[in-house]
Amino acid sequence: MTHNGGIIGFGGMGNWHFEHTQDTPVNYVAVCDVDPERRKAAEAKGLKAYDSLEAFLADDSFDVVLVATPNNLHRDMVVAALEAGKNVVCEKPVALNCAELLDMIAASERTGKVFTVHQNRRWDADLNILQRAMEQDLLGELFTVESRVHGQNGAMYGWRAFKVAGGGMMYDWGVHQIDQLIHLFGRKVESVFCTMAKIKTTEVEDYFKLIIRMKDGPTLQIETGTYNLIQMPRWYVCGSKGALQIDTWGRPGRVVRAAKEEFEWTPVIIHTAAGPTRTMSPRPKDTLEELELPEQWPDWRDFYRNLAAVIDGEADELLVKPDEALYVMRIMEAAFESARTGRSVTFE
Ligand SMILES: NC(=O)c1ccc[n+]([C@@H]2O[C@H](COP(=O)([O-])OP(=O)(O)OC[C@H]3O[C@@H](n4cnc5c(N)ncnc54)[C@H](O)[C@@H]3O)[C@@H](O)[C@H]2O)c1
Repeated sequence: MTHNGGIIGFGGMGNWHFEHTQDTPVNYVAVCDVDPERRKAAEAKGLKAYDSLEAFLADDSFDVVLVATPNNLHRDMVVAALEAGKNVVCEKPVALNCAELLDMIAASERTGKVFTVHQNRRWDADLNILQRAMEQDLLGELFTVESRVHGQNGAMYGWRAFKVAGGGMMYDWGVHQIDQLIHLFGRKVESVFCTMAKIKTTEVEDYFKLIIRMKDGPTLQIETGTYNLIQMPRWYVCGSKGALQIDTWGRPGRVVRAAKEEFEWTPVIIHTAAGPTRTMSPRPKDTLEELELPEQWPDWRDFYRNLAAVIDGEADELLVKPDEALYVMRIMEAAFESARTGRSVTFE
């Protein structure tokens, strides 16, 4: 069934949802924004525009609300929308900490309304290619997974540069990257270690490196920054049978596998200026095989199809569940603590 929706915060992302949901079961018809220019922009697109949250939430022409305001406003808006009887999609990061998110989850349970988080990067092609490569067992048992997002502009736009608004790269990108890794490897975190830096900012981190040790499984590393003038590949993954590299949001990239076993040739010694090494000499070319990345182009609109199906009672489970968001939030809280104390944080 098709559902009408309303958007709180018709900025960059609010407008993106409006533009990209045209052929999904959610049809946005109204917005609420404090900025008159944004309300004018909404009206120009045929949307009803409110400046009062109360009046917007009292409008019964829609039953889905998207919260797409700066991060520090999410909790109160989500709770208010749920209390008004709306089903709610909240942009990421859903909240600034676990306590805020628990308030939202409690409101959803109290009202019986559906509540989910727009973790849209589960539908990124690169993540799904990696997942496919794992399902096809192209890489064997993984021992290291590195997820990087490297910008070069050194900029954190608008409210993202301010602490009070919930700015910083951990909330902005870290939340996606952690969510992706937990989606792939499960809720098995043993400990978290993180460093953060302010390279071009004064209030919030514009660079962080996070290392997640799993109870069993590979070491996970996330490195994210806005001023990495040499950009490293989006994914670098190594396993007992092969390695995978994905350069950017989907392609290009490659899988490299062993074509011969290690005992079938004798490594040569290479001589560097300061000494020899045999251990680190490159393998002969014919002992390796290179494969194309598996094809995988997921459809992000499944997020909205699933939401409508859950509201209509046609699907039992949300694709993005609040308790998954809570686990991701715990990891982010641990990362901030680790960056502050210089120590790793252990999960029970
Ligand atoms: N999932 C993604 O891919 C993705 C991408 C970008 C942004 N986001 C998230 O979307 C949210 C919004 O980010 P953005 O880039 O669109 O920011 P933005 O600054 O472009 O838009 C925010 C909008 O909220 C409005 N607003 C601010 N205070 C308000 C209030 N009290 N009541 C009503 N409206 C208010 C602003 O006027 C503005 O129009 C953030 O949580 C961000 O992390 C998600």
